[in-house]
Amino acid sequence: MTNILIIGAASAIAQETAKCFASDGAHLFLVARNGERLEAIAADLRVRGAQQVETFVLDLMQFDRHQELFEAAIAALGTLDMLLIAHGTLSNQQQCQRSVEETLHELNNNALSVISLLTIGANYFEQRRKGCIAVIGSVAGDRGRPSNYVYGTAKAALNAFLQGLRARMAKVGVAVVTIKPGFVATPMTASIRQGLLFAQARPVGEGIYKAMQQRRDVVYLPWFWQPIMLIVRSIPESIFKRLSL
Ligand SMILES: NC(=O)c1ccc[n+]([C@@H]2O[C@H](COP(=O)([O-])OP(=O)(O)OC[C@H]3O[C@@H](n4cnc5c(N)ncnc54)[C@H](OP(=O)(O)O)[C@@H]3O)[C@@H](O)[C@H]2O)c1
Repeated sequence: MTNILIIGAASAIAQETAKCFASDGAHLFLVARNGERLEAIAADLRVRGAQQVETFVLDLMQFDRHQELFEAAIAALGTLDMLLIAHGTLSNQQQCQRSVEETLHELNNNALSVISLLTIGANYFEQRRKGCIAVIGSVAGDRGRPSNYVYGTAKAALNAFLQGLRARMAKVGVAVVTIKPGFVATPMTASIRQGLLFAQARPVGEGIYKAMQQRRDVVYLPWFWQPIMLIVRSIPESIFKRLSL
């Protein structure tokens, strides 16, 4: 049976992935910053078939508690087979442009907190010589766009970190999965008008579950973002800088 640590477990996408693991009878350790919501999510997963669901309330900006988080998860579940990191915030680009503080806050939350968690988690999985680490990145990390390049920078940093980590962990049998969703209808995107390219959280969450089971390297969700981003990345900079994307 799978023991999985889900960090950012209140994320709408992560909840859908957690439901897939719950119906397999997994043991879950969930981390989120809102205790009340976390308990409601845990109760739902128990009803859906999870054998064990434990919770840990933490604002992940508290870097000095990341080690404690892992120790609590290992103490509760015994061992960890899988790790999913899902938390994030869609940065307000305009506010970031006006404020260094806001920019650094967003980079800390979306990139450095994840890198801190990955550093601790990777050492654990490296010792175990098995397991799977998955992180929700974004297509926004594939190319910096004027409308969201602070968020994109954080996701690009994760992309590079995960590339290196994947090659390190491949030698010891640990999979590292980078998930790159496009637009998904979740609380994060509630203020954005939903167009044709919007996906629902459920299929994206299920796609993450499958990608983790299959130990994939990089997965675009839905799949059509892979060719779209291939085109976006191939536009010459001299043209790209004139576009309002
Ligand atoms: N939705 C999209 O279009 C889209 C596209 C590409 C990638 N993604 C990525 O997918 C992941 C999940 O997002 P989502 O769409 O499921 O949105 P969501 O439902 O808004 O989930 C984001 C979660 O991150 C949590 N979070 C943020 N900062 C945190 C912190 N410092 N400590 C603890 N929890 C924190 C939020 O907690 P609270 O609820 O307490 O605020 C929220 O539960 C994110 O990494 C996001 O960047 C989303």
